[in-house]
Amino acid sequence: MKIALLAGDGIGPEIMAQARRVLDALELPGLELIEAEVGGTAYRNHGHPLPGETLASARDADAVLFGAVGDPECDNLERHLRPEQAILGLRSNLGLFANLRPATMFPGLENMSGLKPEIARQIDVLIVRELNGDVYFGEKAMRVLEDGRRQGYDVMSYAEDEVRRIAHVAFRAAQGRGGKLCSVDKANVLETSQLWRDVVTETHADYPDVELSHMYVDNAAMQMVRNPGQFDVIVTGNLFGDILSDQASMCVGSIGLLASASLGERQTEYGTFGMYEPIHGSAPDIAGQGKANPMAMILSLAMLLRHSLGREEDALRIEKAIAATLEAGVLGGDLGGSAGTAEIGDAVLERL
Ligand code: NAD
Ligand code: IPM
Ligand code: MN
Repeated sequence: MKIALLAGDGIGPEIMAQARRVLDALELPGLELIEAEVGGTAYRNHGHPLPGETLASARDADAVLFGAVGDPECDNLERHLRPEQAILGLRSNLGLFANLRPATMFPGLENMSGLKPEIARQIDVLIVRELNGDVYFGEKAMRVLEDGRRQGYDVMSYAEDEVRRIAHVAFRAAQGRGGKLCSVDKANVLETSQLWRDVVTETHADYPDVELSHMYVDNAAMQMVRNPGQFDVIVTGNLFGDILSDQASMCVGSIGLLASASLGERQTEYGTFGMYEPIHGSAPDIAGQGKANPMAMILSLAMLLRHSLGREEDALRIEKAIAATLEAGVLGGDLGGSAGTAEIGDAVLERL
C-alpha cells in the first residue's frame, strides 16, 4: 500500500505531522509513504506549484493525503504558477471528479456551533461537490476591451456526462444514508444550472427509492443555517459546493473539523484511488504558531483508510478517537479552547 503525502504550505506541514503520527500508530503492514512537495513550497524549490515528480508520485500511489496550499506571497504570480493551481491540477489530472464533504455534529460540540444548540445538533449532511468542471475549469482571461476598459471573464459550463456521473455518485450515497438527495443549483438564472437540473432529474429514474428535491443555491445557503437537519445528501457544482461546505463547517463548529475525499473511477488493489484533504486552506494567519486544529486532517486520513485502503475498522477507530477527544473538551483555538496542534495530536493518539 502506497500513500503519497503532500503537506503543502502554511499550516499544511503542521497538521500533516499529526496525521502522520496517527498513521504510524496504526502500524499498517506493508505501508510505503512517499513525501512530495506541492504549492508555494514547490514553486520556490522547483519553479512550479505542481512539479511533474509530485504528480507522478500521486499517480503512482494508492491514495494521496493532501495538507493545504496557499501563500500570500504567491498571490501576485501569474495564475498558472500560484499554489492553488497544484490542487486543481491534481484533481483534474487524476480524474477526481467527486468530492465528498461530510459535516456531522459531534456530541458535546453543540454549544460551539454558530447555531442554536438544538438546531446544530441535527446536522448530518454529506455534500457531494463536482470537482472537475464548472466555472473553475472554463475559459478565463483578463483582457482590455476596445473602449479601453479591463474585463475579466470565466466561462461556466457543464456537459451532460459530467453532471450524470456526479449525480450517480450522489444518488448512490443517498441510498447508503437517509435516502434523500437535494440538488442545489441556480436554474432560475443559469443555463448551466438548467442542464444540471434536467440531468439530475433524468438520472433519478435509476433511483426510485431516493427522494429527490431541487433547491436554488441562495435558498440553500439560508436553509443551511435555518434548519441544516433537513439535509441528507446535497449534490452541487464545483463553485456552489465550495461555498456551501465552508458554511456547513461553521454549523458544526469550525472549519478545522471538516475532512474530504476526492474520488474518481480508478480502482486500486484495495479500494478506490483518491485524494484526501481538509476543506480548509493554509491558514496563513496562524501558520507556524502551533495553533492549527489537525482534526480535519486526521479525519481526512480516516476517509483515506475507508475509501482507498479498504480499512473501515481503522477509519472508525480514528473517528471515535476524534469524537472522544472533542467530548473530553480538548479544543483548539478555533473552537474557543486553548489546545495546540501537537496537544490535540497527543489527545487523539491517547484515545486511539
Ligand atoms: P483558510 O481556510 O486557510 O482560513 C480561513 C480561516 O480559518 C482563517 O482564519 C484560519 O486561521 C482558519 N482556519 C482554517 N483552518 C484552520 C484549522 N485547521 N485550525 C484553526 N483555524 C483554521 O482560508 P483563506 O484564509 O481564505 O485562505 C488561505 C489560503 O489557503 C489561500 O491562499 C487560499 O487560496 C488557500 N486555500 C487552500 C485550500 C486547500 O489547499 N485545499 C482551501 C482553501 C483555501
Ligand atoms: C477547497 C479550496 C480550493 C477550491 C481552492 C484552494 C482552489 O477552496 O478545496 O475548498 O476552491 O476548490
Ligand atoms: Mn474551499
